[in-house]
Amino acid sequence: MTTTGQVIRCKAAVAWGPGKPLSIEDVEVAPPKAHEVRIKVVATGVCHTDWEFLFETGKGMKIRPFPLVLGHEAAGVVESVGPEVTKFSTGDTVIPLFLPQCGECERCLSPKTNHCRKNWANTQAGVLADGTSRISCKGQQVFQFLGVSSFCQYTVVPDTSLTKIRSDAPLDKVCLLGCGVSTGYGAAVNTGKVERDSSCAVFGLGAVGLAAVMGCRAAGAKSIIGVDINPHKFEKARTLGATECVDPRDHAKPIQEVLVGMTDGGVDFALECVGNPAVMTAALESTADAWGVCVIAGWTETEAMSVKVEKILMGRTLKGTYFGGWKSVQDVPKLVDEYMNNKLELDEFITHNLPLDQINEAFHTLQSGNSIRTVISLWQEEA
Ligand code: APR
Ligand code: ZN
Ligand code: ZN
Repeated sequence: MTTTGQVIRCKAAVAWGPGKPLSIEDVEVAPPKAHEVRIKVVATGVCHTDWEFLFETGKGMKIRPFPLVLGHEAAGVVESVGPEVTKFSTGDTVIPLFLPQCGECERCLSPKTNHCRKNWANTQAGVLADGTSRISCKGQQVFQFLGVSSFCQYTVVPDTSLTKIRSDAPLDKVCLLGCGVSTGYGAAVNTGKVERDSSCAVFGLGAVGLAAVMGCRAAGAKSIIGVDINPHKFEKARTLGATECVDPRDHAKPIQEVLVGMTDGGVDFALECVGNPAVMTAALESTADAWGVCVIAGWTETEAMSVKVEKILMGRTLKGTYFGGWKSVQDVPKLVDEYMNNKLELDEFITHNLPLDQINEAFHTLQSGNSIRTVISLWQEEA
């Protein structure tokens, strides 16, 4: 029986307010409008940013609209397409994208950036192009997170925020390419442009940092120093390419001084994958003068980072990366191919698998430092 053109009733994990656990609800997902695609979400990762929006909103962060369906790191199958959609059809396997690539704007046409702003103001505000969301619960509009909302069995996304991937890709693995792994990997290979035989330091060894380690290795770095205050992360970091690991709490000196000492003047590349302004300063100051490059991949909007002018004046470069510099629609399918050809690791990142109704457990394990990524299966009962 086709569901095209009909409202679909399905399950979602709804965030009713900041700081509250998610609640599994029956929701209605409206059909896609012009230039929109409705997808059946098969698997979704739970990212640090989902946690932050739920638990940090209002604590120095802007107030976001609630109720909200979080989730932005997912993979699924196209259920139906709205009018004027030309690039997708029912049955396509896809990854939704919180960063669009319209392919037509000045930024999309420039090789210098991946920052397309198609539908940006609306998706940041939790709605689609017409100013409304396609999800509702108990008669109330439920906002969509970054235009995606993958903690829902079906969602509707703009056709410029979606990419088609090969049909044989395991969706419960490649969903991670929708955010964390792509961000960290691209921070090293695209934004940092890590060089062969260079020395690197990666601060924070969560999914983003471990992917940055993997990127440094892929780029041929000679030494890759993993830095984390949780030594349980070191084993996985070594598996993915770290040549040494350091816990800042094992040292009396600030971590930047430790790294400068270890590398005889500083690393060539430092990648911040924590989202902590003090760690960002340490990352910059751990790079060598004259050519050191520091890439910020961690995200925060609560505090500013402090930069000593002298550090920049003496030849260091400070850069930020968003979605690892990848042009989302064109590059994500290539990353899927890299995974399928055993050039990029994803399985190592998945420490937990849970059904949708246990999603709050994923936030607990993330917060406790015991997980890298939990992948949520949206259709557990059919498995
Ligand atoms: N120094 C070094 N490591 C730290 C520090 C610190 N002061 N504080 C925390 N960490 C480590 C944590 O122990 C953890 O291993 O940083 C890691 C962060 O990992 P996750 O919480 O799993 O986060 P992740 O999903 O990797 O995202 C990291 O990137 O996209 C952004 O919003 C995201 O800001 C977040 C960052
Ligand atoms: Zn994310
Ligand atoms: Zn664009």
